[in-house]
Amino acid sequence: MAKSGNKNKALPIYVLNGPTLNLLGTREPEIYGRTTLAEIGKLTAARAKTHGLAIVFRQSNHEGELVDWIQEARTKGCGVILNGAAYTHTSIAIYDALKALDKPIIEVHLSNPHAREPFRHRSFVSKVATGVICGLKEQGYLAAVDAMAVLIKDKA
Ligand code: DQA
Repeated sequence: MAKSGNKNKALPIYVLNGPTLNLLGTREPEIYGRTTLAEIGKLTAARAKTHGLAIVFRQSNHEGELVDWIQEARTKGCGVILNGAAYTHTSIAIYDALKALDKPIIEVHLSNPHAREPFRHRSFVSKVATGVICGLKEQGYLAAVDAMAVLIKDKA
């Protein structure tokens, strides 16, 4: 009988972060907390591991790069957790890329954009997201991983 090898190994969750999230820790800590993005990456990877899952954790200040990574997740990822940061509120390119992704999508924000300036109340990501988690600081990433683990199992 042929060995299944790595065939049954789940693909990683793509955890993608948009502009200026590289400055977490020092950027407006009263809004975003003091945890750095590198720390969030470690915490998120550890939580994924408890579900037997791996993550690809990336950040870019460039819209096109985020689009490229969302497209990459079409074949190399099991789903996308996205904090699109400011592009959440402006990017039709990211919206289109997400629409072409037939995988679970969880939108995450450290802050609660609905309790902030009106220009943050519109999200193009929400229109195509499976679910949205906001206002829980870095805990939101961990909740997103837990939810993604369930969504992936439901899909399998
Ligand atoms: C954010 C909220 C966005 O409105 C903002 O532009 C960000 C961060 C958050 O995680 O709270 O850069 O996505």
